[in-house]
Amino acid sequence: MLDLIAKHESSSLAAIAEAASVADLDRVESDALGKSGSLIVLKRDLGSIPVEERKTAGRALNEARQHVEVSLAQRREELAAVERVARLQAERLDLTEVPTTVSVGHAHIVTQAWEELEDVFVGMGYHVAEGPDVETDWHNFDALNIPPGHPARDGFDTIYVNHGEPGSTLLRTHTSPVQIRTMLTQEPPIYIVAPGRVFRRDTADATHMPVFHQLEGLVIDKGISLADLAGTIQAFTERYFGSGFNSRLRPNYFPFTEPSAEFDVQSPDGSWLELGGCGMVHPNVLRAGGVDPEEWSGFAFGFGIDRLALLKFGVDDLRDMYSNDIRFLRQF
Ligand code: DAH
Repeated sequence: MLDLIAKHESSSLAAIAEAASVADLDRVESDALGKSGSLIVLKRDLGSIPVEERKTAGRALNEARQHVEVSLAQRREELAAVERVARLQAERLDLTEVPTTVSVGHAHIVTQAWEELEDVFVGMGYHVAEGPDVETDWHNFDALNIPPGHPARDGFDTIYVNHGEPGSTLLRTHTSPVQIRTMLTQEPPIYIVAPGRVFRRDTADATHMPVFHQLEGLVIDKGISLADLAGTIQAFTERYFGSGFNSRLRPNYFPFTEPSAEFDVQSPDGSWLELGGCGMVHPNVLRAGGVDPEEWSGFAFGFGIDRLALLKFGVDDLRDMYSNDIRFLRQF
């Protein structure tokens, strides 16, 4: 009897060690400890052996059952862990097809020029101001001393927006209306630059686009003179273009400034480049902005950012900058 118990115990333990899955283990368990399991059936046989052997055999059988139970529990835990790992492995998403080299883009050359200009003026103590692309006729023209019927209006090829009274809403033709918006919302002294998008009914060619960018400047303070304007233009020229560059003002006419000038920049090789317009803010413009011309004076300037970028990066056709050809854009 003892031999039989030992034999069934060791064969059960061997089967447990060999079980490759929880299902295998269930089978081993029922073979050993189930209703007609090898170690259960033996219990019934105990009744038919001599009393003096029965006690020892009974204990041995109990011990054998315990060994098998403990071994089953251990193996069950091991197999469950292995199966859990296998399941996680199978459910895992394969994300390894992400490209190993990521290509990073960069800012467009107009954006680069725009940001560099902001940096230069912020470095000179200016704040950056903004205004809307869709403007009122009043902010874009009237308040800038360009009343209805003024010949300067014809020069702008304005794109009107179908909103409100006919002719009352438009896509701003220049960044100058930001002068008005700033004066109406801020107390002087004012030192701002306003870069932004502007629109004109123009056919695209090498030097014109219907949508382009300007940078407006406005200074309002006490005792500001034309000398401050000239000095500011020169300081800007040296900081943006480099120390070998010079600037000059040439008399011109703009309705919103008096006197008005065109400003040019000279490169070290002596050639001149026409950059933009400027002048002392007209008293009518100060008044439209709610600023008292008896107390305050100021200057303003404005120029195109696209043309500046074109010169800076040596591009000879503005249209190339907006063709979105990646081979062109990558060069800069
Ligand atoms: N707004 C003008 C234009 O678009 C440029 C300009 C000229 C702006 C003179 C100014 C200025 O502020 O004083 O052609």
